[in-house]
Amino acid sequence: MKKVYIETLGCQMNKSDSERIYAILSKFDYKKTNEPKEADFLIVNTCSIRQLSEEKAYSRLGVWGKWKKNKPELKIAICGCLPQHTDEDLLKRFPYLDLVFGTQNIYELPELLKEEKRTKSIKKKEYVPEKDVDFMREKSVNAWIPIIEGCNNFCTYCIVPFTRGRERSRKPEVIINEAKEIIKQGFQEITLLGQNVDSYGKDLEDKPTLAYLLREINKLEGKFRIRFVTSYPTDITDELIETVKNCEKVCNYFHIPAQSGNSAILKKMNRKYTREEYGAIVDKIRSQVPDVTITSDFIVGFPSETQEQFEDTLSLIDKYELDYSNIASYSPRPHTVASKMTDDFIDEKTKDERFQILNTKVKEMHLKSNKKFVNKIVEVLVEDNQGNILKGRTGNNKIVHFESDKYKIGDFVNVKIKSASVWHLKGEVI
Ligand code: SAH
Ligand code: SF4
Ligand code: F3S
Repeated sequence: MKKVYIETLGCQMNKSDSERIYAILSKFDYKKTNEPKEADFLIVNTCSIRQLSEEKAYSRLGVWGKWKKNKPELKIAICGCLPQHTDEDLLKRFPYLDLVFGTQNIYELPELLKEEKRTKSIKKKEYVPEKDVDFMREKSVNAWIPIIEGCNNFCTYCIVPFTRGRERSRKPEVIINEAKEIIKQGFQEITLLGQNVDSYGKDLEDKPTLAYLLREINKLEGKFRIRFVTSYPTDITDELIETVKNCEKVCNYFHIPAQSGNSAILKKMNRKYTREEYGAIVDKIRSQVPDVTITSDFIVGFPSETQEQFEDTLSLIDKYELDYSNIASYSPRPHTVASKMTDDFIDEKTKDERFQILNTKVKEMHLKSNKKFVNKIVEVLVEDNQGNILKGRTGNNKIVHFESDKYKIGDFVNVKIKSASVWHLKGEVI
């Protein structure tokens, strides 16, 4: 049996795609390995969200190309978001590449593998969910289920609509059956995935909603948690908030990227809400869902962002007590509207300064949010262990470390929190 290694860059959708690729390749006598050096087939599953993400993929290819000099039978492939959007002939640029395929061609792999010659296949048309395949899921406590792929929002900075196409939902019965299977296999957590999960079902005949899926999966027997990412602020419905509140297996956690705290910048980003509308959604969720954690994403240095506008981002985080936020420095992307706003580009030094200031704010908020849990009793799902130190997560996504030789990965444990730092909580088993 031959061995295949996939280097997965980017978001959870890519991780989930890699699980499908492993499943397809296993039918072609390829065994998964976590050790690239021993692989016969190397695949880099790429991300294009920032320039830097693409450079990572190229540098991986460079290293593998050198290995191939001593191992000419080594097969090398690039797939995912980068080849999907680029017009560049990657086979020409990288002479040691054997195979190039896009996000919409995973299902074509069986045919592509039969090709003797170097091959490129990028389907510009979106893949139709009916032709579904298995996933070879990573052995951990959590299993991903993609429910909707693609995005119709066209935020002016974002390349995703060009790498993933328009929104396509998978059928609810397929998703619910997959959830049943996952629980049978012994996973303790299910995460429903999509670039914009709140859009789920709008393209299907019966218009099933994300809330419907959550309720149906919540009814399944067994002890497990349900999560969902990512939410678009103004698409979060009352039905969804109500469902999160009422379904005991659905975690009290929302990831709601704001991107900026300034309404003029939001408009330029083509985000369909103002600072106040974003805040109102956060307030509504907090007033209904107890102990809810709300996290966000922000971009610093979007074209024309002034110092005052940047400071609105800081004050938004403060005002609405966002528990944690991912920060990205704006990176112009091909095909996007914002990449043409070249006159308004913010210089790298200013972007770096803003990044550092925002980073300090985010850490301060995370500590503040973590401290609220000191002396509370929380339920932790153990995900990892290092000797006697067990690491896990609460339903509302707080990372907890505690000492025990009694519990193992996959156990639910009640822990009393003793102290809090920026990145995690420490507690004792009760
Ligand atoms: N669908 C999600 C986000 C997907 S991309 C949403 O609507 O928010 C993940 C994150 O990458 C985004 O939230 C954004 O903060 C960041 N990002 C996207 N394009 C970017 C760019 N051109 N430069 C810097 N960060 C970017
Ligand atoms: Fe990108 Fe905007 Fe779609 Fe999110 S909602 S994937 S940021 S275009
Ligand atoms: Fe990156 Fe593609 Fe995900 S661009 S963030 S891997 S959808």
